[in-house]
Amino acid sequence: MADTCDTINGVAGSEPLSQRDVALRVLDQCLSERETISSKPIVNILAPDVTTRIRQSLSRPGRSPLSLDTLLDAADVIFRHRVRMDHPRFFGFIPSPANHASWLGEILNSAYNTHAGSWMQSSGPSAVEMELLNWMACEIVGFPTTAGGCFVSGGSMANLTALTVARDQKLKFEDRPRAVVYLSTQTHSSVVKGLKVLGFHEDQIRMIACDSDFRISVSDLKDAITVDRSSEKIPFLLVGSAGTTNTGTIDPLQELADLSVKEGLWFHVDGAYGASALLSRSQRPLFCGIERCDSLSWDAHKWLFQTYGCGMVLVRERKMLTSSFSMSAEYVQDAMETEETLPNFWNYGIELTRPARAMKLWFSLQFEGLDKIESQIEHGVEMAKLAERTLQGLSDWEVLSPAQLGILCFRYRPDKPGLASLDALNQKISRAAIEENLAAPLTTRLNGVLTLRICCIHPDLEEDEMTRIIHGLDRIAQRQPEPETTNGG
Ligand SMILES: Cc1ncc(COP(=O)(O)O)c(C=O)c1O
Repeated sequence: MADTCDTINGVAGSEPLSQRDVALRVLDQCLSERETISSKPIVNILAPDVTTRIRQSLSRPGRSPLSLDTLLDAADVIFRHRVRMDHPRFFGFIPSPANHASWLGEILNSAYNTHAGSWMQSSGPSAVEMELLNWMACEIVGFPTTAGGCFVSGGSMANLTALTVARDQKLKFEDRPRAVVYLSTQTHSSVVKGLKVLGFHEDQIRMIACDSDFRISVSDLKDAITVDRSSEKIPFLLVGSAGTTNTGTIDPLQELADLSVKEGLWFHVDGAYGASALLSRSQRPLFCGIERCDSLSWDAHKWLFQTYGCGMVLVRERKMLTSSFSMSAEYVQDAMETEETLPNFWNYGIELTRPARAMKLWFSLQFEGLDKIESQIEHGVEMAKLAERTLQGLSDWEVLSPAQLGILCFRYRPDKPGLASLDALNQKISRAAIEENLAAPLTTRLNGVLTLRICCIHPDLEEDEMTRIIHGLDRIAQRQPEPETTNGG
């Protein structure tokens, strides 16, 4: 076929656009979005009439192609309606401050369209994946040289992959019904989801309480294990967090590692959010003990500034991954010749066909250099501390969880007699801040209390902007009418 994309030009009588022209037009639209993101709405959710329009006239393919202009306009309408997770003032969930280089690496990746399942199909990208994983596991985390891992789509898949290995290493098949897992009330929900996918029942999952700093209570944990052992259960897995989603808290990893050794448990750490801070020399000491875990989840699409679909699962003994996931079939025999010495990553996880996810991380780490990444991570940590200091200079604000790994939880709590629902008041503050496009601090609950929460890890967020946002929240808070009935808080 000629170098044209005549299915796309679609305008009667016009010259067909070359593939290059089409690509450049698409890139141009993407660049405009990226360049102007700070001035765009942070949260834009479809109104019912636009939903109907998108569903009825923009979604289903027609027999004839659309013109490129029409198609790009439609893309703009569709994509405009989203939360800009990569907006510097989006503070909800875990934002996605994906950097320019990651996006470009993704473009490279999809253009080369590598099948990264086997060494034969992707020896170049597989060599990079192998080495990045080695570097992260052995040099950054501190695992022994037996360690390895696999790139996966994100934290949920990393957790599921690790939990599968834990089950296979620690349990005989017939013992599975009596097996018990320990996690904390602050553990990310994807861990429970993964356990359910693996066939464990809710009765087999112990949600251990946390202390006042939202760290798993080791004494409660020990008690729970004792009770389970005395009733013929089989404790086999302990999950710690290195950066919880709610508060950025790191569990007492040394103590958990000690307990795991003593009790013969598999020790998995969910570092999907926090593990990136291992690249910061100032934050690294907080993770002491992480090098003793058996497996670790670490998401590059969170705090390593990658576009979505880039997570890692690391294990202390890489052969345990292949022991759980290795399969063979006659139709892949040509790809199995190197198996003994070189990785076929389809044997390290659940996916057979998989994109070369490591390549965008490789591209952006090489493009930016580690010094810049380190300072950008530390910037996020500092921004949350700045927000906390700014709040402390204002009256009527209460910090519910101090700044940790770029996350801060706080609420407005005016000292007024007979004041009613603080939960409703703080929910309104969050909504008003979003409506004004001041910023998007969303809410969560800590010990049942509604709190504003900011996760402010975008490197483009500047200090004076953060101060302005906190003062803006104060202004919004003060103009809220007082709620009428007493409940909550
Ligand atoms: C601590 C933690 N673990 C796991 C996950 C799940 O990761 P993903 O959304 O990439 O599947 C998240 C997501 O925010 C998280 O914060």
